[in-house]
Amino acid sequence: MTEHQQDTRTRPAASDEPFDYDAELRRYNEHFRAAARVGPGDRVLDIGCGTGQTTREAASAAVGGSALGVDVSARMLERARRYGSSNVAYEQADAQTHRFEPSGFDLCISRFGTMFFADPVAAFTNIRRALRPGGRLVQLVWQGGDRNEWATAIGQALSALPPAPSDGPDAFSLADPAATEGILTAAGFTDIAFTDVHEPVYYGPDADAALDAVLHLWAVGSRLADLDPEAADEARARLHATLAAHATDEGVLFDSRAWIITARRP
Ligand SMILES: C[S@@+](CC[C@H](N)C(=O)[O-])C[C@H]1O[C@@H](n2cnc3c(N)ncnc32)[C@H](O)[C@@H]1O
Repeated sequence: MTEHQQDTRTRPAASDEPFDYDAELRRYNEHFRAAARVGPGDRVLDIGCGTGQTTREAASAAVGGSALGVDVSARMLERARRYGSSNVAYEQADAQTHRFEPSGFDLCISRFGTMFFADPVAAFTNIRRALRPGGRLVQLVWQGGDRNEWATAIGQALSALPPAPSDGPDAFSLADPAATEGILTAAGFTDIAFTDVHEPVYYGPDADAALDAVLHLWAVGSRLADLDPEAADEARARLHATLAAHATDEGVLFDSRAWIITARRP
């Protein structure tokens, strides 16, 4: 697992600021928060917490409890730590192998942070051990690429570019419910359930801003550099046109679908 392995789009970043997942996922977050049902006193573990929005929200709902966010990315955590609160902590760790306090958490949450494990059964076994008996796992993961217009439309617009470097599982690795149920069952979870969430994702207020976001997420800058200048201009114009075609009164939106997967440690 490398620091840049955040999703299929995220390869060496084009700027120092991480992509604004909070804006992209605003509509998803409402569903996620409702499913997580963090309550007073809960001890919450947030896997792949990124810049920490979900960790902070969990901490404020867990009055008298606590929230720990873990992420492999120092850069993400540095930003998460800018907004501290008394019952939030962050740790740089690979959730697949990190030695969490056994049975130390009532609830484990993850917003798109669990799809990148090299060995998913080992990772979810490790996470299950961190939960107390009866503790819950609530995660949001993408459905298949063909159900996510951001992947198909932008992928098509970028098809003339050399492929992005790939160094492990992609953002759709938990898209198949039967396969994912098998992984979670093998990891010792029960009461596994999938809820379909269908919401647009937001890439920015207009096509120019969305282009910046895509340049950041898909490592397009370095891939464009491998093309001759004329081909690079064409590819950039094609991408801009795709983004402009998705501009709405609410900004640049792409259709998308995800699963909320809930499970329990027996
Ligand atoms: C798509 S981002 C989501 C970030 C955050 N959950 C959010 O919704 O804003 C995925 C995050 O998972 C982290 N990640 C990937 N594999 C991980 C692992 N094995 N252990 C911990 N964090 C991991 C990445 O560094 C990245 O910050």
